[in-house]
Amino acid sequence: MGFWSGKYVAVAIGGGIAAYKSLELLRLLREEGARVVVIATAAALHFVTTLTLQALSGHVVRSDLFTPSETDGMDHIRLAQEVDLLVIAPATADLLARMAGGHGDDLLTTLLLARTGPVLLAPAMNVAMWNHPATQRNVVQLQADGITLVGPEHGLLACGDQGQGRMTEPAHILEAGRRLLAPKPWKGRAVLITAGPTQENWDPVRYLSNRSSGRMGWAVAQAALRAGAEVTLIHGPVAMPPPQGAEAIAVVSAQQMYEATLSCWESASATRPFAAAILTAAVADFRPAVQQPGKIKKSSTEPGQQSQLALSQNPDILATLAERANHMAQAGQTPPVVVGFAAETDATLDSTGSVSPLVRQKLARKGCDLLVVNNVLAPGCGFGSSTNQVTLLHRSGDTVAWPLLDKDEVGERLLDYLVHLLV
Ligand code: CTP
Repeated sequence: MGFWSGKYVAVAIGGGIAAYKSLELLRLLREEGARVVVIATAAALHFVTTLTLQALSGHVVRSDLFTPSETDGMDHIRLAQEVDLLVIAPATADLLARMAGGHGDDLLTTLLLARTGPVLLAPAMNVAMWNHPATQRNVVQLQADGITLVGPEHGLLACGDQGQGRMTEPAHILEAGRRLLAPKPWKGRAVLITAGPTQENWDPVRYLSNRSSGRMGWAVAQAALRAGAEVTLIHGPVAMPPPQGAEAIAVVSAQQMYEATLSCWESASATRPFAAAILTAAVADFRPAVQQPGKIKKSSTEPGQQSQLALSQNPDILATLAERANHMAQAGQTPPVVVGFAAETDATLDSTGSVSPLVRQKLARKGCDLLVVNNVLAPGCGFGSSTNQVTLLHRSGDTVAWPLLDKDEVGERLLDYLVHLLV
């Protein structure tokens, strides 16, 4: 069952051109299993129709304070108390002003006055309107009132201007809502994550790499952000933008990932050490021993003749961090929990259900606290797949096998498991 399943969400739509994007937000929420009710301001109904909103939300659209659908005329109070989340998207400059001023002159503003639970605002307007001192004052006031804002984003605006003012994309609004509602056991803690593949240059046009998509690392980073952690994400070349709110450091080679990871570890150690280091990256074990400055020509070998590529070993990031953590523990300091991911192609569990000796040897060789092991050849577990089936092997010898799960859920469960290991 997904996060939104059974959640009750009120989506309030203000009168701006970005109202059309809120239709997608409604669709996504319904698809994820949420119960959705729409409140549209009178201005919003100039941009989207009641019929569309009703069809997408599956409920009667509320718009007028004086034609309530409940018999006692108290829908705004009931809605304010009952919904798990109130999202206002798009929130126009006028709506921000009325909210900040504590007005209650329509259904939405009265509902807001009666609301004590989480409220998420997705502003959308022209860049000059956003930057106007009055709007900025209202934003500060609303934040001080405990309201969370997502966006607006930079980009091309409907009026043709470029700048900050675009409403955040519906999928990101959904993620911001999820973060707002999620428990925060990692609040005040920092987490270091590596993700994706690395690329090892051979010549200016060729490289060695692997099939990692970075999805597992992204899921772990999202889970950590939702749980309130500060996330440093060091990642190789992947096709996805980094999760919003993570400090992302893009690298290409294993050597660069090693240097970036150690540098983050060291600077954190001097101030506030990471609570956990979760190394999901598929780091290339080898790199071409010599990087050719120019493209290697086919004519450098005779047809049918075999050619050799000499490889050098890359540094082992996980083993290095685990060694440092173990030194910290010996010196009486609290070390980060160090977690490795092992993508194997052999059965990870033997016929009796215990982790194979090879995996136990890997945990001992790496010296980390925990290995998250999966068999990439098992159904639903390959690189790029949205699901994974993992077994956790703790240094104490304890193992926990999870069923085939969405990678998102593997990330959530892992963060939950790790928080209990922190002292
Ligand atoms: N890892 C790392 N640095 C490397 C290689 C691997 O930090 N140079 C980390 C990975 O991020 C992962 C874990 O080590 O968390 C296990 O990776 P894996 O490739 O399974 O380990 P290897 O030591 O490379 O073992 P194998 O011989 O099975 O490839």
